[in-house]
Amino acid sequence: MSTPSAPGPQLSDVQFRKIAGLVYEDSGIILSEAKRSLLMARLNRRLRALSLPDYGAYCQRLDSRDGPDERRHLLSAITTNVTAFFRENHHFQSLARAILPPLVEQVRRGRKLRIWSAACSSGEEAYSIALTLLEVMPDAARHDALILATDIDPEMVDRAERGVFSGEALKPVAPAQVKRHFHATQAGVEASAEIRGIMRFAELNLHGDWPFSGRFDVIFCRNAAIYFDGPSRRRLWSRFAGAIEPGGSLYIGHSERLDGPASACFDVAGTTHYRRNLHPVPTTT
Ligand SMILES: C[S@@+](CC[C@H](N)C(=O)[O-])C[C@H]1O[C@@H](n2cnc3c(N)ncnc32)[C@H](O)[C@@H]1O
Repeated sequence: MSTPSAPGPQLSDVQFRKIAGLVYEDSGIILSEAKRSLLMARLNRRLRALSLPDYGAYCQRLDSRDGPDERRHLLSAITTNVTAFFRENHHFQSLARAILPPLVEQVRRGRKLRIWSAACSSGEEAYSIALTLLEVMPDAARHDALILATDIDPEMVDRAERGVFSGEALKPVAPAQVKRHFHATQAGVEASAEIRGIMRFAELNLHGDWPFSGRFDVIFCRNAAIYFDGPSRRRLWSRFAGAIEPGGSLYIGHSERLDGPASACFDVAGTTHYRRNLHPVPTTT
């Protein structure tokens, strides 16, 4: 018996390989054969939005002048954006109790603080970092302290930047923090100017160029590397080793592990929490 396929236009083998190849080239995300129905279910919506009859026409669009822009939409369609406030809360506890207090003392003496939420999805992770920082340092906005939130998916970056969440999404946030840092609007519950003041948002592909001059004190890159193949993932860890201050922290997702040459650059500091040591950064190609 053949497996029932999703209704609507069907992807041929050649078209699937072409699209999966472009996705891998652009994002390092591996689309195995098992993801084919998921890809079709998500892209059929895109075909309808573009009034395209089939995947032949879609592949032509990917090859046309509109191709580069369409490839961004393709990534939006295939990325998994599941996230939540204070997801894997032990990371935020370690940040609040062990990592931020000594840094904050230095920031009060004029040092800058930089934290990166490196695959931020719709922003819940970055806002959880901001809420944690404001607990430890309520006057963070008056110092040089910033949280950078980036994602490959432009739609997610827009949502993160808007900072409007549902009451349901805000359930893991302590009521006192919701009261202090959010207010109800017609669109939903919106983050205050104070919290946005210490955040910056940008579209960024982890496998592309990183336009940073300095290094980060803390990087969160959770539940994104799990979608990459081994070489892309190990290269990413090596780039993080070069982007984190000595003593700085890297938090990764619960089902991820540091592997490859960069693992020598980090000491285990907790569950999926690593601290940068003085080992030289491995060369990446
Ligand atoms: C499952 S979400 C994780 C969100 C958040 N870090 C968390 O753990 O709750 C994975 C995110 O990684 C992003 N992503 C996937 N590939 C990426 C890449 N090459 N560069 C940047 N972000 C990427 C996706 O767009 C998605 O928003």
